[in-house]
Amino acid sequence: MLGFSLDGDRLEGREGDTVASALLRAGVTTFTRSIKFHRPRGPFCLSGSCGQCLMRVDGVPSLPACRVRLREGMRCARQNAPLGADADLLRAADFLFPEGLDHHHLLVGSRLLGRVALEVARRLAGLGQLPDEAQPPLAGTLRKEQIVVVGGGPAGVSAALAAARRGARVLLLERDTRLGGAALLGIDADAPGAEWVDEHSRALASADVEVVLDAEAIGLYPNDAAAAPGKPALLAFRRPAAVVAVVADAVVVATGGVSQPLPFPGVDRPGVYAARGLLALALHRGVRAGERLCVVGEGSELIGCARALRRAGYDLARVVDASGAWPLPSGSAVPESAPDLAILRARELRARGNPVKELRAGDEAIACDAVAVALPPAPLHELASEAGAQARFSEELGGFPVGTDASGRTSVPWLFAAGRAAGAGGARAADSGTRAGVGAADAVGARRP
Ligand code: FES
Repeated sequence: MLGFSLDGDRLEGREGDTVASALLRAGVTTFTRSIKFHRPRGPFCLSGSCGQCLMRVDGVPSLPACRVRLREGMRCARQNAPLGADADLLRAADFLFPEGLDHHHLLVGSRLLGRVALEVARRLAGLGQLPDEAQPPLAGTLRKEQIVVVGGGPAGVSAALAAARRGARVLLLERDTRLGGAALLGIDADAPGAEWVDEHSRALASADVEVVLDAEAIGLYPNDAAAAPGKPALLAFRRPAAVVAVVADAVVVATGGVSQPLPFPGVDRPGVYAARGLLALALHRGVRAGERLCVVGEGSELIGCARALRRAGYDLARVVDASGAWPLPSGSAVPESAPDLAILRARELRARGNPVKELRAGDEAIACDAVAVALPPAPLHELASEAGAQARFSEELGGFPVGTDASGRTSVPWLFAAGRAAGAGGARAADSGTRAGVGAADAVGARRP
């Protein structure tokens, strides 16, 4: 067991926990307070994307608790809750300003009162305070590579293998501590699963692909660095105690997707989670956040997540098909009959309680202790967009897939994209990765030895 503290109280977690999984295991669901109205906030995505779990850890503010690995003796503190995160009296702001709090116009009729209001707002709002002490700089290194693949899900693994088999030298980066990504969640029976991941992980080793786990890409740019001329791409990634800059001939972005919330009243309450985040939590950390679960969403994602969550040990209170509720595109209703799930169709939703104790779906009030939102993840295009690749909104995908040609090449000549980031998730991810890997290998002139 690993001992750590939350706001001075001693708790215990397990080896392999993140701060978030350890807290949820201990029954803590309120991780912070919202910036303005001090509403309670708990983790949602559980994958480092939503910012609802930011905490002060060992004196460093605003770290995502769902990504920080737990260590013995860690000191965690909830932010933006000067009067206590569990019963924050500043929550009264929500009731005092039911129409919303417009700080730009608050008390501006009087210069003096306006200044007072500004000072008060400054003290009440914001997330985090400066670190207790300056952090020592991380060690930095520079590497030169032929092809870098970002993302170790089916698309990234397939891209790395295809490029290596064509004779390219390949570095594969995965931000998690295991390869596989969504394939390990068991949501889509037609898509690669855990066996595929095992088999292809072995193939990566025999193809001499260098795999670096726990490596998060943090920037991708055209390379103008005089220190490393001749390679068009510059990528930076972070490891637990190091930052690495890589100059490369080509990069394949296979970053997958990001879980989306469904905007209904109460969706921001602790106890509402992304279905994929809950699955990863149960399968990789052995933690269930609650026992009786409502799963709400649309299409095959709803069915696949509900079944996978049940296999992971959750008792399903209700499965709610919300297709047709804004902003879901109409026509993405549940595609098959699923008698094992007794699906309720509802457009009006509301979650109550802290943490959630009830989901109202249409006329039905469903008692539960957690809600899982199961919508298809939106393409995670930011890394490719940052380097200049074009991404256009797709209503069908609910986000901005990176545009590519048939070989996976984006609008940036040295940049390729594959998998959900390029609009080809699930069963299409591996094929799109193979195409991008072949495209990248050809682009850098790789030759089979
Ligand atoms: S960033 Fe941690 S739960 Fe979303």
